[in-house]
Amino acid sequence: MEKYVSVKDLEEAALRLLPKSVRDYYKSGATEEQTLGENKKAFQRLRISPKCLVGVNNCDLRTTVLGNEISMPIGISATAMQRMAHPDGELANVKAAAKEQTIFMLSTIATSSIEEVANAAPDATKWFQLYIYNDREVTKNLVLRAEKHGFKAIALTVDTPLFGLRRADVRNKFTLPRHLRLANFDGILSTKIHNTNNGSGLNEYVQNLFDKSVTWNDIKWLKSITSLPIIAKGVLRGDDAVKAVEAGCSAILVSNHGARQLDGVPATIEALPEIVEALKGYDVEIFLDGGVSTGTDVYKALALGAKMVLVGRPALWGLTVGGQAGVQRMLQILRTELEYTLQIAGTPTVADVTKEMVRHENSYCK
Ligand code: FNR
Repeated sequence: MEKYVSVKDLEEAALRLLPKSVRDYYKSGATEEQTLGENKKAFQRLRISPKCLVGVNNCDLRTTVLGNEISMPIGISATAMQRMAHPDGELANVKAAAKEQTIFMLSTIATSSIEEVANAAPDATKWFQLYIYNDREVTKNLVLRAEKHGFKAIALTVDTPLFGLRRADVRNKFTLPRHLRLANFDGILSTKIHNTNNGSGLNEYVQNLFDKSVTWNDIKWLKSITSLPIIAKGVLRGDDAVKAVEAGCSAILVSNHGARQLDGVPATIEALPEIVEALKGYDVEIFLDGGVSTGTDVYKALALGAKMVLVGRPALWGLTVGGQAGVQRMLQILRTELEYTLQIAGTPTVADVTKEMVRHENSYCK
């Protein structure tokens, strides 16, 4: 794995290895993919203003999220159907997170079940990503199983009344390969995704089964069936962040679903300051995902108020290239880059990374 020295190296290798329809599914964004590009470019518009000669021998990446200590503020976000990347899929991914002592978030529409993931990595800090199905008993069953098997939080995806239009998936009539199943379900719910009429089979599955009527009031229902903390995943506005917290969420994950839902929405690093501002005075944690691919990206998100970032695609690239070892390599690359950044910027611990460390590029032009 040593030959891969950046997340980009892993991405390029993975894109060469994956079959076209899987490659397109993993890498695509919604419609014109403007936001997909912006998720990365917006990080580049920010500059780090380093402090010199502060003494940095106490470098420390550790942090605590929702009461759990992790070795660095970088976790793995939920991505669906990981056995298309590697035969061990989610199991390799969660084992990598366990070894690197960070968070792994399992998707509802995973190709490994809650139970398999829990058994593969009993010591990992695991979160369960939830989609609410029309059938509330099905949904409740997922939540209860996650809680029973030691998952530490429910990340409710709030940006997905239906799946975004991803043109490549429509062209490819993308659906889950026949030898795989949605492992969190039995019977028809695990295999219905194989049937496609016209266009993306995945979108048809979601249109048929996800509950489009969900509102912030449903957080109450969720809280009535679980004592796990709830993370609202997919918030991009300050007022929504406040609604989420007032409805009972313990954390906000600022996310645009990897730019896969609605094109033209802000990059997540652009949306973060509004949410941090709106939640001043509330006792909640704020996380971010979307476009993070270097240690300096992580640093910029921490400076603007995120407690932790998560990565989606980078884990898929690592998984494709080398299973567990590939995901670990990806995490180690980001860890090393963040370590260097913390020290050279003169802010050796995560707590030292404050807002004034980062400025917009325009603030340098007088
Ligand atoms: C996702 N994402 C996602 N989110 C979610 O809540 N449930 C899911 O099942 C999935 N599945 C999924 C599949 C693929 C292929 C991608 C790329 C993304 C969104 C994911 O959790 C996360 O928000 C983004 O991936 C973060 O952006 P980056 O790191 O991929 O740029």
